[in-house]
Amino acid sequence: MNVAKSSGKLGILVPGMGAVGTTLIAGVYAINKGMSKPIGSLTQMGRIRLGKRDMDNKPLIKDVVDIHALQDVVFGGWDVFADNVYESAVHAEVIDKTMLDELKPELEQIKPMKAVFDKSYAKRLEGTHIKQGETKMDLAEALMEDIRQFKETNGCDRMVMIWCGSTEIYIEEGDVHQSVTALEEGLRTNHKDIPPSMIYTYAAVKMGIPYANGAPNLSCDIPAILELAEQTQTPVAGKDFKTGQTLMKTILAPGLKCRALGINGWFSTNILGNRDGEVLDDPDNFKTKEISKLSVLEQILEPEKNPDLYKDLYHKVRINYYPPRGDNKEGWDNIDIFGWMNYPMQIKIDFLCKDSILAAPLALDLVLFLDLAKRAGMSGIQEWLSFYLKSPQAPKGVTPMHDIFKQQIKLENTIRYIGGEELITHLGQDY
Ligand SMILES: NC(=O)c1ccc[n+]([C@@H]2O[C@H](COP(=O)([O-])OP(=O)(O)OC[C@H]3O[C@@H](n4cnc5c(N)ncnc54)[C@H](O)[C@@H]3O)[C@@H](O)[C@H]2O)c1
Repeated sequence: MNVAKSSGKLGILVPGMGAVGTTLIAGVYAINKGMSKPIGSLTQMGRIRLGKRDMDNKPLIKDVVDIHALQDVVFGGWDVFADNVYESAVHAEVIDKTMLDELKPELEQIKPMKAVFDKSYAKRLEGTHIKQGETKMDLAEALMEDIRQFKETNGCDRMVMIWCGSTEIYIEEGDVHQSVTALEEGLRTNHKDIPPSMIYTYAAVKMGIPYANGAPNLSCDIPAILELAEQTQTPVAGKDFKTGQTLMKTILAPGLKCRALGINGWFSTNILGNRDGEVLDDPDNFKTKEISKLSVLEQILEPEKNPDLYKDLYHKVRINYYPPRGDNKEGWDNIDIFGWMNYPMQIKIDFLCKDSILAAPLALDLVLFLDLAKRAGMSGIQEWLSFYLKSPQAPKGVTPMHDIFKQQIKLENTIRYIGGEELITHLGQDY
């Protein structure tokens, strides 16, 4: 495969410089200064098997495909608050203050540009650092101007955008999302079903900038953006980082299914006290997240094909805003399973996680793999990146793939394909 070289500087554009955004940025600076290892990131630490099993050849992924070097990235972004990245990271309370103080000179240089924001899509946010514009198209053009200036000021060769902004209210796909023409008309007439996140998406994809969506907002998951992505040859990946509870779910559910164990109940609840939790405390915003989280089990377990095992499955997901915990989310799962002769059993999970610590390496990998995809001439939905996403996008008529082990096979084979290596199908003697 012909892949352009990863030379020069890569600009990483982050709409939403809150807990995840600042943890990503501070982490990359800490890694570049030798203060930390890129734990959790496959582009930096992951290995991949090549060739037959007895060859025991497992190089680093970054030695198989040309991943852009972390030393040559530059960050920019937007937020509804004017705090620089240092201030915002202190507020998020994810990273230890001593570590942040060592990174302060670099982090305080990164100041968010004024956001495209409308409170009616995130009712719990009181933003003050906001662009003004008569139409949504004016705002999209203002974002494109920001991007052009950022590129010039920082001497970027290429750019990638990753949405780390808040989860917006639930919006269903409608007529305005069906084509580029309809979307552009909607932008000019301020259609209510075009939330701020979609304005950023439009601006990026219009400029041919690869786009990843870390939230469950519709964003790039609409026909209009996919049409635009084909026109501008832009790869996209969404939606919603697969961290914490959903990560556990997509590890465990395939395991139970492959042993033909039945499940009749899966109750998941969380306490979370960061700004994300506060935004999700509004029922309209929670609905967007709930739908993203609920889709997982249905697809993995396929109750219609396995009615004796899963037809009665009751799946419930709750998120409770609980300020004392900050970013230290606690997620409980109670799973009611049954086995031989219908005997019931229970599994309990109590995951005390750090939400943004889990999300930051996913954000980094998404950005670097999307840049690779762009250089490899790949465009549209990058299904091989489903591995990182809670509610992965799939082409029309195809069910999204949630099983993390199938996602991993797809990710690894795509890396082999881009790297010009033989695919591993587990057929024949090499298995
Ligand atoms: N942390 C995780 O593990 C995780 C996992 C999956 C998904 N997510 C999603 O990632 C997103 C970020 O999470 P977080 O914990 O960093 O939340 P956060 O609230 O700390 O940060 C979000 C930031 O986005 C800003 N923002 C909101 N609307 C904006 C707009 N229109 N333009 C620019 N900035 C805007 C907010 O001011 C805030 O600073 C959320 O949507 C969350 O649901 C997070």
